[in-house]
Amino acid sequence: MYVGIDLVRTERWERLLTKFPARAEAIFTEAEIAHCEGKKAHKWESFAALWAVREAAGKALGIGIFGSAWRDAHVTWTKWGAPVLHLEGTFARRAEELGVTDMAVSISHEGGMAAAVVVMQGGSHDTHNDSGSESAR
Ligand SMILES: CC(C)(COP(=O)(O)OP(=O)(O)OC[C@H]1O[C@@H](n2cnc3c(N)ncnc32)[C@H](O)[C@@H]1OP(=O)(O)O)[C@@H](O)C(=O)NCCC(=O)NCCS
Repeated sequence: MYVGIDLVRTERWERLLTKFPARAEAIFTEAEIAHCEGKKAHKWESFAALWAVREAAGKALGIGIFGSAWRDAHVTWTKWGAPVLHLEGTFARRAEELGVTDMAVSISHEGGMAAAVVVMQGGSHDTHNDSGSESAR
């Protein structure tokens, strides 16, 4: 089982996307942008949370976000508003390598901060063997 967590300042995304609105289209899917825009005045915390999802997924996979595309982790929502995580590209390949069979994401925002936790199930891969640490050599 693998887990990743990330905490993001809402204000950072408000500043970035106010200054460079086109960045949203590069980083987030159409469905994600529509979801956030639907939050009106609270949209920045939802954008920040979706960024946290990307970083939390990279952590769960043990590779971080460098070397992945912006949308390698993205979210859709159930009819009750629960987020559902999807992986593509580098993230999807890594999940396959690790033997991930199922995954879940949870999001929260409060007081100018947004957080996401990603849990991935399955696999018997020892991520410590990827570290190149002394003990693994
Ligand atoms: C889900 C709920 C517990 C959120 O708690 P909260 O303390 O108000 O808000 P948080 O900041 O901690 O969480 C918000 C996030 O919860 C997630 N969420 C929303 N509904 C959810 C659900 N049914 N199950 C799991 N997660 C949910 C979303 O990702 C949301 O973030 P987003 O709007 O940026 O996507 C609360 O709103 C609730 O019980 N809602 C009932 C479901 C509902 O009314 N849905 C409305 C659409 S039909």
